[in-house]
Order: sequence, then structure tokens, then C-alpha cells
Amino acid sequence: MGLSAIITAMLKLKSLELKSNVISSPMAACTDLAYRLISREYGLEFCFLEMVAAESLIRDNRATQELMKTIPQDKPLGAQLVGCRAEAMGEAAGIVESLGYDLLDLNLGCPVPKVAGKGAGSALLARPDECRAIFTAVTKNVKKIPVTVKMRLGVSDASGNEAARVAKIAEECGITAVSVHGRTRVQGYSGSADYHAIRRVKEAVNIPVIGNGDVLNGHDAQRMLDITGCDGVMIGRGGLGNPWIFKSVENVIAGKGALPEPSSDDKKKALLRHMELELLYREERTVLVYMRRIAAWYFKGLAGAVEFRGKLNVTQTIPQIRELILNFSSTG
Ligand SMILES: Cc1cc2nc3c(=O)[nH]c(=O)nc-3n(C[C@H](O)[C@H](O)[C@H](O)COP(=O)(O)O)c2cc1C
Repeated sequence: MGLSAIITAMLKLKSLELKSNVISSPMAACTDLAYRLISREYGLEFCFLEMVAAESLIRDNRATQELMKTIPQDKPLGAQLVGCRAEAMGEAAGIVESLGYDLLDLNLGCPVPKVAGKGAGSALLARPDECRAIFTAVTKNVKKIPVTVKMRLGVSDASGNEAARVAKIAEECGITAVSVHGRTRVQGYSGSADYHAIRRVKEAVNIPVIGNGDVLNGHDAQRMLDITGCDGVMIGRGGLGNPWIFKSVENVIAGKGALPEPSSDDKKKALLRHMELELLYREERTVLVYMRRIAAWYFKGLAGAVEFRGKLNVTQTIPQIRELILNFSSTG
């Protein structure tokens, strides 16, 4: 196990050599700076910003700058662009590289009407010529960092053939790796991710393929790797309120067994730390609102969580929130 486990757990993405093949996925309104920092404190190596619109980035949009905020400890870090105009994607890609991010990902997975309805995100999966134009424009403008593509299985065809076709185009255009969420655009988040369909993509290309979808623990991750033959695992929702997951999954893949389940005191401690990190980088009144969602992630499923939420929703100050968390008892 020893040496082979160490070798298989690495992920080499061109110049970016990751020690771990367990990474965090981009999630809009979730993977902000505080989320990334707490995940790193608990053992995550690589994470993403949330997606940013190429068109906004090239207009130097203030909201986009806020989304892209980072600090030196927040590395290695990937940025993700969403858009469908090849020229804009190419220009924005050059900006991402010049800003010092370690990797650029292109979003070909987003199913929401605001994005896919305009021909971007997952809508591109049915438009191979547009994909080629975008990949060509982007790789032409990015000289050093790896460029990856994150996709779903297809628009409505769940076989994985659509994703495999786009992955091959990506490979031909010099894209470093692809990640695949095992659902179609039409599926949204319903049903479960199809790891067998992800395998079709893995078999279609020679570049690294990272599997994504429904990994909530080490067992899921091992199952994903066994079925897909993928080179890495990308975790999204499983990381919300659960910064332990990355190390735990990594340990299981390395044959070392999962970390013990965090106790309710462990969760309180991590939640308080998450709030302190939010307070370092956001205005207090924003944190007050954000904490309602963040706390719900951490205490989900615990006895007393519903009552706690009710109290939190009417809390007016940060010291009150701190006290509420400290006094939370999952035994009632
Ligand atoms: C709230 C939320 C926001 C998301 N935002 C993005 C995004 O900005 N870019 C992206 O490529 N995927 C985004 N996704 C998709 C996730 O990265 C991931 O592919 C999906 O949730 C499946 O993985 P999971 O089962 O591990 O969560 C988002 C998902 C959620 C739930």
C-alpha cells in the first residue's frame, strides 16, 4: 500500500503539483475566502474561488473583484470563468493569469437558467464548435498556469458521450485536465451522480480526469475512484460545515482509515473560527446575515439545530451569535 498510495494520491496539473488528489470544487456564494481558509486549516490543499463572469472581469467589475479576493495563505488557488464569447473568455483568461492564481478553470457545468439560458455553462456541452473556439482563445492567452474544464455529463444525454466529446476537444486544444460532475444539466441536482458515465470520459482522453458528485465521505470517494478510474476527487457540498472531510477522504484513499466523526464541540469550535475568519474579511453586518447559512451547515442534523436557527435568525450582534454558538447543546 505505502508507496503506491502516496503516488496515487498526488495530482500533477502541468506546473502545479498537488500533494493531494482531493480538491474542493467552486461553489457560488459558498467558497469565499473564509471558507477556503478554514478548509485549509483542517487540511485541504487546493481550492477554487466561485465562478466569475468573463464579461464582468474584463469590465473590471467591482463585485467581481470582491469575489476574487484572496490573501497569500490562500494558495494554491484556482479561479473559474464562465461565459460563452470566445474572445471575452480569452481576454479574461489572460487577466486571471496576470492576477497570480495558480490554475484557471472554465465552467461548462452550470445549469442555472441565468447562465445556461444565455449559452454559457452546461449549454456549451451541446456546442462542440463553440467549445473549441473558447478553449483555443483561452490557451492562446494563458502561458504558465494550467487550464482545466469543469463539466457535467451532458445537456440531457446521461451516457457521458457529450462530456467525452468535449473532453477530447479540450485535450486537442491543450487543456491540462477536466473534471466531470456525474449529472446532466437537465438532472440539476436530482438523482445521484453516475460514476460509470464519468468513466466513459476518463476512457476517452489521456489528460487527468477528476470525478465529482455526491462524495460525502471516504467510502464515497473510494467508490468513485474505483468505478471511474479518475485521477482525483472533487468535493463540493460535502465540504459545507465540514472542513474535516478533505483530510478524512484523503486518509481513506491512502488506506489509513477515516478521521473520527467530529463531536458537537468540534463543530462549535470550527464554526466560531469560521465566523472569526468571515469577520476578518467582511463587514460585520454582512457576516451577521451570512452566519445564518454557515451555522446551518455546521449544525445540520444535530438535535436542537432547528431551535438554534430560529434564535440565530433574530440575533442582532456578533457577540450574541458567539454566545448562542457557545451555549448550543445538541442534547437539548
Ligand atoms: C451552492 C452551489 C454553488 C455552486 N457554484 C458553482 C460554481 O460557481 N462553479 C461550478 O463549476 N460549479 C458550481 N457548483 C457545482 C459544484 O461545484 C459541484 O459540481 C456539484 O455541487 C456536485 O458536487 P457535490 O455533489 O460534491 O456537491 C455549485 C454547487 C452548489 C451546490
